[in-house]
Formats: sequence, structure tokens, C-alpha cells
Amino acid sequence: MDDLPEKKSKKRKRKQSSSSQSGLSRRDFLKITGVSAAAPLMAGAAAIAIEAPADAAIQGPGKVPIALNINGKKYNAQLEPRVTLLDALRDQFELTGAKRVCDRGTCGACTVLMDGKAVYSCSVLAIDAQSKAITTVEGLGQPGSLHPVQQAFIDNDAQQCGFCTPGFVVACKAFLDQHPHPTLEEIKHGLSGNFCRCGTYAGVRLAVMQAAKAGKGA
Ligand code: FES
Ligand code: FES
Repeated sequence: MDDLPEKKSKKRKRKQSSSSQSGLSRRDFLKITGVSAAAPLMAGAAAIAIEAPADAAIQGPGKVPIALNINGKKYNAQLEPRVTLLDALRDQFELTGAKRVCDRGTCGACTVLMDGKAVYSCSVLAIDAQSKAITTVEGLGQPGSLHPVQQAFIDNDAQQCGFCTPGFVVACKAFLDQHPHPTLEEIKHGLSGNFCRCGTYAGVRLAVMQAAKAGKGA
């Protein structure tokens, strides 16, 4: 049965008071959640909330010019605004180090650095990454001149099939930048945003310890 007018008015008042108590209007809430749905989840850490600028212009749905700074180089492409950073890296720029596994921000295989922070590139829109410095595993080391974290993975047998490894290496680098002298518990917690189906966790933790001891995380 429909609510009586008096009941409806009480309900409305309760809603208004709860939104004013939280300091957020319903419109504010929708704005924030609508944007943060595309915000990156930090590998093993808290999510970043990206707020839309008040004067944000509508982009798309067709292709728009996108310029990205990846591994210190400029990359340009025409992409639909819905394209993720992961898809742009892999399909447009042939940077295939970041892997697509879950494609929904749960496994960490697609981890890259954005302004030095580890993010899931499958959960970031390329268009939102334009003002950031992006580093992929390709930007950390090359065959013949591996990054110390990459070398530590080899030394500690920290990979089997290797599919999760690029994401882990990037996440370990970001973790060591923040925790140069980590405990084992901190390593477990800090890398909990990356999964390995082959179960190489013990080797990964040893690799992080080795790179930390050498003071070569950065
Ligand atoms: S592919 Fe991005 S978190 Fe799994
Ligand atoms: S080494 Fe195979 S999934 Fe991690």
C-alpha cells in the first residue's frame, strides 16, 4: 500500500538529514562513485579516488586523441574514452608486459606504476592516465640490464609459468620504494594485491628480501 503523505514527508526528512550529516548530497555521491568506478585499485594497498573536475567536458563516445607518457616516451593514439590503460598499452603501443588475466581489478597481473604508485591498469581509463608518468615492466629493465628486482626474481626462482611475474615485479618495485627495509609480514601484506596461480609466493618474498638487503628496490 502507498505511504500516507505524512509518512512520505517523514521519510524525505530522514533522507535529507542523513545526507547532510555525511556532508554529501546524493548528486555529490553519484559524481564521486561514477568516477571512482574507473579509479585504479592499488596493488596491495588502498584505492585511489579520482574526482572529476567540476568543468569536465563530455568526451566520446567516439575516438578522441590521447597522449600518454610511458617509460619516459610520448605515445599518441585515437582511442574511445572507454579504453583502459591496459588495452591501450597492449593493443595500441605493443607494450605487452602488463598481462590481462581477470580484467576486473583483482589479480594484479596488469600492475603498472602511475606517478610511482602501483595500479591495476585494467581498472584505469587511458584517458584518465594522460597527465601521469606511467612505468611498465618494460621500463624497469631490459634483457642484459635487468632491474635488481628482476634479477632477484631469477636468483630466487620466483616464477614458474611467468604470467603473473611482470605484475609482481612492478608491484615489488613500488613496495620497496615505500618500504626499503620490510619485514616478512610487511612483504606478505604489501604484495597481497597480486596473485600467482603457480604458487611462487615463497620465492617472491625471498626475492623482495634480497632486493631490500641490497638496497636496490628503487
Ligand atoms: S588483469 Fe588487472 S587486476 Fe587482473
Ligand atoms: S608463475 Fe605462474 S601464475 Fe605466477
